[in-house]
Amino acid sequence: MKKLDLRSDTVTLPTEEMYEAIRTANLGDDVYREDPTVIELQEKAAKILGKEAALFVSSGTMGNICGVVGQTKRGDEIILEQNSHIFQFEQGSSAVIGGVHTKTVPGKEGYLITPEMLEEAIRSPDSHHPISSLVSLENTHNLAGGKIWTIQQTQDLIKTAKKHHLKVHIDGARIFNAAVGLGVPAHELVKGADSVMFCLSKGLACPIGSIVAGSQDFIDQAFRVRKLVGGGMRQVGIIAAPGIVALDTMIDRLADDHANSKTLAKGLSAIEGITTRETQTNLLFIDISGLGITGQQFKKDLAKKGIIVSSRWDSVFRFVTHYGIEKEDVEFIIETIANLYSKK
Ligand SMILES: Cc1ncc(COP(=O)(O)O)c(C=O)c1O
Repeated sequence: MKKLDLRSDTVTLPTEEMYEAIRTANLGDDVYREDPTVIELQEKAAKILGKEAALFVSSGTMGNICGVVGQTKRGDEIILEQNSHIFQFEQGSSAVIGGVHTKTVPGKEGYLITPEMLEEAIRSPDSHHPISSLVSLENTHNLAGGKIWTIQQTQDLIKTAKKHHLKVHIDGARIFNAAVGLGVPAHELVKGADSVMFCLSKGLACPIGSIVAGSQDFIDQAFRVRKLVGGGMRQVGIIAAPGIVALDTMIDRLADDHANSKTLAKGLSAIEGITTRETQTNLLFIDISGLGITGQQFKKDLAKKGIIVSSRWDSVFRFVTHYGIEKEDVEFIIETIANLYSKK
């Protein structure tokens, strides 16, 4: 029985080409900035994002820490969407590591910070307040179900942020899903942002790693922050090598994941008792409360068929399509769930 793990795109395994790249990588000491493979990956990533420089980090969380701590001072404030990954799932790292206060806004449609919301959230220059110095947007937005920020929406936010002298960080863990979803190059989606993070270890199928990019000055700061949090490593080319393969070969195929997610949404929504939310990329949220079973039961029933899923709230599940989940697998998943729960 093939195991179909839909919990996350982080479960993806490397391609054969990636294993070969690992085996043959040229190595050096990356704390001395002398690992040729890391340098190649960083230059390639910076070019794809239209930024001056980039830095390889061990995780998306570390990349976000570099973005926040590398661009703020203690006592500053960062403005975030209330369900953003940085606010919800990174242990309050902005405060813990950077001494940075967070202010959240409830995004329009669960993801979007409009220019009006930003202006409302920015503090007035009063000695009682922290100083608003950074805003972060998440593209695609994870908890909103992989929702995409368009170029226009991003530019509108950046323009307003600049007007008020705020820096802009993009948590682009899945920025290539956004780019492929819109059919635009990734650099168009991050133009004008001071820093951007993306993950190699999610839909791009690398075993480890993320990138932060921005100006050379920012990357010099990020290099210090990475060291502060213990992310200065040595022969890093071993784990950076698959990233080069990913940027060359794994971006365009994200369209397959998006198509599979749409097929899944259509198939599952036809089952009485299941409602699906809109899917724009590779994340699909479904609500099974109409099936009259608990989330635990649903999880167990599916696990017996080799389908691994996880719930956000008891009856709401996130199904993630990714490299390794084929079109036939999606058909099998729909058929299996329909057979288990369709009212006879
Ligand atoms: C939007 C977003 N940002 C950041 C991260 C953090 O990435 P990592 O798990 O590599 O720390 C994730 C991980 O799921 C994410 O979805």
